[in-house]
Amino acid sequence: MKVLIATEKPFSKKAVDSMRAVIEGAGHEFALLEKYSSPDELRAAVSDAQALIVRSDIVDEALFAAAPQLKIVVRAGAGYDNIDLKAATAAGVIVENTPGQNSNAVAELVIGMAIMAARNSYDGTTGFEISGKRLGLQAFGQVSRHVAAIAKGFGMDVKAIDPYCPADVMAANGVAVAESLSELYSQSDIVSIHIPATPETTGSIGKELIGQLPKGAVLINTARKEVINEHELAQILEERPDLKYFADVKPKNAEELQARYGNRVFFTPKKSGAQTAEANMNAGVAAATQTVAYFADGTDRFRVN
Ligand code: 3PG
Repeated sequence: MKVLIATEKPFSKKAVDSMRAVIEGAGHEFALLEKYSSPDELRAAVSDAQALIVRSDIVDEALFAAAPQLKIVVRAGAGYDNIDLKAATAAGVIVENTPGQNSNAVAELVIGMAIMAARNSYDGTTGFEISGKRLGLQAFGQVSRHVAAIAKGFGMDVKAIDPYCPADVMAANGVAVAESLSELYSQSDIVSIHIPATPETTGSIGKELIGQLPKGAVLINTARKEVINEHELAQILEERPDLKYFADVKPKNAEELQARYGNRVFFTPKKSGAQTAEANMNAGVAAATQTVAYFADGTDRFRVN
């Protein structure tokens, strides 16, 4: 089988070498397309592949139409909103992700952003310490659990809300349960967003929630830009000069916000949460191993469609 690794944002060389070893070791053909510049280039590369491994690369109906031999797509990462699952199913292609493999990397970025915001982006003015502050986690999946563990080490008070996570799991992680989003936002000095982008969550965080943050609060988004109502975010940043917004998922109006609000906002130039040597290795090798396992005996434990 031909396995194509297609990553507009490449994995480290070491991770790619390890993926190659897994794929070739199982007797498959390894192909690599990195930093490609157009969907056409991706479609051409995948045209004779049976498996495709991607990161946040767009996998849509047109791609499936161009890849008649494709059997499996593995998203080397957690969020799979970049893959059209309906189109995949219609094309008879299974889709998997690699949950948890890059969550510590993202969690460390969250804490780094919290400290950077607390220290006014290191501009020399008086900031604050995160120790003793209240951290609110919106959703309590794998990334959140790592964030909670690290934050507790800093002496933060951690609260979370997640309709899909039982309260005893939060308790076992030493995290209090918020009864409502309103409670989470109004009683946290730092809120970190960890919800996926779905039709239900798109645009769901706007003025009403952000406006409830206490004075001097920081909102951190390492999840997806789509969950923010960007127009209302701009409005609330204007109305509340005490608030900060730090994100690893640059909003459409990033330049305007940066020009207007200086170090009250921060955006990584390219999504960097999972961009560590360790996370590249974990997610990349997991994706290669899952692909090989599927071809060996149909194992599809992390199937999402
Ligand atoms: C994920 O969903 O796993 C993260 O957002 C990482 O995405 P990336 O592989 O594009 O860095």
